Amino acid sequence: MEPALLERAVRILRDGGLVAFPTETVYGLGADASNPGAVRGIFEAKGRPAGHPLIVHLAREDQLEQWASEIPPVARQLAGRFWPGPMTLILRRHSRVLDAVTGGQDTVGLRIPSHPIAQELLRAFGGGIAAPSANRFGHVSPTMAEHVREELGDSVDLILDGGACEVGIESTIIDCSRGVPVILRPGKITEDDIRAAAGVAPALPAYRAPRVSGSLASHYAPSTPVVLVGSDELDNVVQSAPGPVAVLARRTKPKGWERGTWCEAATDPSRYAHDLYSNLRELDHLACSTIVVEDVPATVAWRAVADRLKRAAGQGSDLPDGG
Ligand code: TXA
Ligand code: MG
Repeated sequence: MEPALLERAVRILRDGGLVAFPTETVYGLGADASNPGAVRGIFEAKGRPAGHPLIVHLAREDQLEQWASEIPPVARQLAGRFWPGPMTLILRRHSRVLDAVTGGQDTVGLRIPSHPIAQELLRAFGGGIAAPSANRFGHVSPTMAEHVREELGDSVDLILDGGACEVGIESTIIDCSRGVPVILRPGKITEDDIRAAAGVAPALPAYRAPRVSGSLASHYAPSTPVVLVGSDELDNVVQSAPGPVAVLARRTKPKGWERGTWCEAATDPSRYAHDLYSNLRELDHLACSTIVVEDVPATVAWRAVADRLKRAAGQGSDLPDGG
């Protein structure tokens, strides 16, 4: 990053302003996590109800002690393996962490992102940067700088442009504050990855509902209704759907099909995730009657994508996920 731009970004953060920045997952809407006024600014810009906790982003693992009061061995193992990277750990909060950041809970979400621009910003700023995804509340997360502009316009003081985010969906959230790690939101780092790194099988949260904003079923919804259909039903649905439809499917457009816009998605889960929010945004702009999405395989590798698709279709269960 240009030194002058970096300096400007740091000055805005120190003055309590908002800087949107790229991470390897999605763009974040950053503010000084130690400044209550700045944190309030995040909620106003997003239109996000108060009480939804924010993730604090850090440059390095040696800053953890300033934010968490207890770092269990399993958290250290996961941190060593996956940070910097697309993982958020929920840990017991340090007493200095603002209630506005934790939503008044006894835990805090912490993440060390790997994106070079995020790292540069965090290192130059020195403190923790609270950053939710840089979208209006309830909308699809931004994976490009222009998405942030479209979502937040002038309510953000500066947008750092890092091109398209590599992962494309939000970080895996793992609660390490209560013994066995619990996956609160699936992401690129899967339950298999966690088991391999930590030597314990993480729990999937069916029994408790921590306050994760993405647990609202419609959290990732475009404004066009999204219908999720099984691969075997896809042909029937797209041939019979009324009006122009938008389709997101892992196969090519059928010959002669002229009922709307067909977006051919990747057949590989990482590539699919990388493009997912851009694809949904583009299809949403077409003003079709419906976005028909072909469901994805029910395997571990596709779990995070399947979760986001369910939520886009408003079918999210009330399991805690999302963001
Ligand atoms: O990939 C990501 O995690 C992105 C980038 C910018 O880092 N951030 C992100 O933030 O997705 P957000 O606020 O859109 O989603 C974070 C989720 C929210 O659903 C929030 O409720 C949950 O993390 N969360 C934060 N702190 C928590 C805590 N102490 N306990 C339980 N859930 C927490
Ligand atoms: Mg979010």
